[in-house]
Amino acid sequence: MPAPNANLSALLEANKKHVTPALGRLHDHIIVRGEGARVWDEQDKEYIDLTAGIGVTNLGHSHPAVTAAVINQVQQVSHVQCSIAYSVPYLQLIENLVPIMPDKSLDTFFFWNSGAEAIEFALKLVKRATQRPNIICMQGGYHGRTFAASSITRSKTVYTLGSQTMGGVYAAPFPYWHSLGVSPDTPEEELVAMAKIQLELLVKQQVAPSDVAAIFCEPVIGEGGYVPAPASWLRFLREFCDKHGMLLVIDEVQTGFGRTGKMWASEHVENFAPDVMTFAKGLANGFPLSGVVSRREIMEKQEPGTIGGTYAGNAIACAAAVAVTEVFKTQPILENVNARSKQIFDTLHALRASPKTANLIADVRGKGLMVAMEFRTDDALTQRGATGPIPKDIGKRVQKKIIDQGIFVLTTSCFDTIRFIPPLVITEEEMAAACKAITSAVEEVAREG
Ligand SMILES: Cc1ncc(COP(=O)(O)O)c(C=O)c1O
Repeated sequence: MPAPNANLSALLEANKKHVTPALGRLHDHIIVRGEGARVWDEQDKEYIDLTAGIGVTNLGHSHPAVTAAVINQVQQVSHVQCSIAYSVPYLQLIENLVPIMPDKSLDTFFFWNSGAEAIEFALKLVKRATQRPNIICMQGGYHGRTFAASSITRSKTVYTLGSQTMGGVYAAPFPYWHSLGVSPDTPEEELVAMAKIQLELLVKQQVAPSDVAAIFCEPVIGEGGYVPAPASWLRFLREFCDKHGMLLVIDEVQTGFGRTGKMWASEHVENFAPDVMTFAKGLANGFPLSGVVSRREIMEKQEPGTIGGTYAGNAIACAAAVAVTEVFKTQPILENVNARSKQIFDTLHALRASPKTANLIADVRGKGLMVAMEFRTDDALTQRGATGPIPKDIGKRVQKKIIDQGIFVLTTSCFDTIRFIPPLVITEEEMAAACKAITSAVEEVAREG
């Protein structure tokens, strides 16, 4: 183990004041190295990482196969601009992705750098393909912080604070109890029935369905609180889009690449095919790469030159992504996701059921290793079923106590929610340590009141 590095502490102190304060930050330190589900800061303090860089390093930090592929590619060629020529890994990536698409109709790709950029292109694509101007998005949905992507984001107002947004965007309530103003224990079928009524109303009262190009939906609402879309909701959206000639865009930026226990979260719904799918994050395990895939006939509606970007589909990022797809072929990643998912859900459900801590917890939800615990607040909905006074700022206090035990965790959404999104390779022992820390943190806050 290297000794804590005084030079790095000095580097941090001298320069952090020049970083824009418009960024939030969980840990005001430098992460010097990472391995699997662990990271080390400049003080050489070790952390179990339940954030995975916000769902990015799915195969763990510094995965050897990804590292080797990147080194090899740097030695060949780093940058082949996508409008000039192809790089080898660009084509190898397509070769590896085509067979694992959630539906074989998804056969034509464009690669960009970030999730938000993928969304920007998807928006252009659906408007051009349908010749319709408007978009329906989901209340609580998140699609990124660039202009158009933030305009279809509805998880928190901070993402568009003080700036104008793109017009022609309508938000439909998602089948999430907060959006519909009902109790957390409302059965899924009732939530879906209420959300269906609201969407039908939206196209009667707010925008004609023939003026809507597409519906954008995440298969698990991510930054909006880790709320899985019921299968019946996604099937309804599919029928609704077909009925009205709209396209269905499924945003798998956070849910893709095994995060929910299948390669794609939409694969939890049988015979389900989006018209357009966006993906990023786990794709290149930490290298900036995103993708949009659709049917050839939809992509063909875009004239050459309407899309592109200097770094789009960068060769090094594509080489990392090829390595990721190869690892999924040979390693039992999805099996580990499902086993570790059960481990953490058992812990969270036990906390929700325990007389010591039940009063703090409004909801436990998620899919695979996209897991959340929502706490009660003074919001009347979250108070249903409470058995006594509800402590203040539960999430923030629990988060701090977990971090103090050497575990990185994030909050999410405008509600008091903590989320757990570890690398998919987290071991049973690491998850057990994390579960122990979560339990003791929630119990301590319950004791303190
Ligand atoms: C579902 C979803 N879409 C889009 C984005 C934006 O991706 P990026 O941060 O790479 O721009 C995110 C990021 O969290 C996301 O979760």
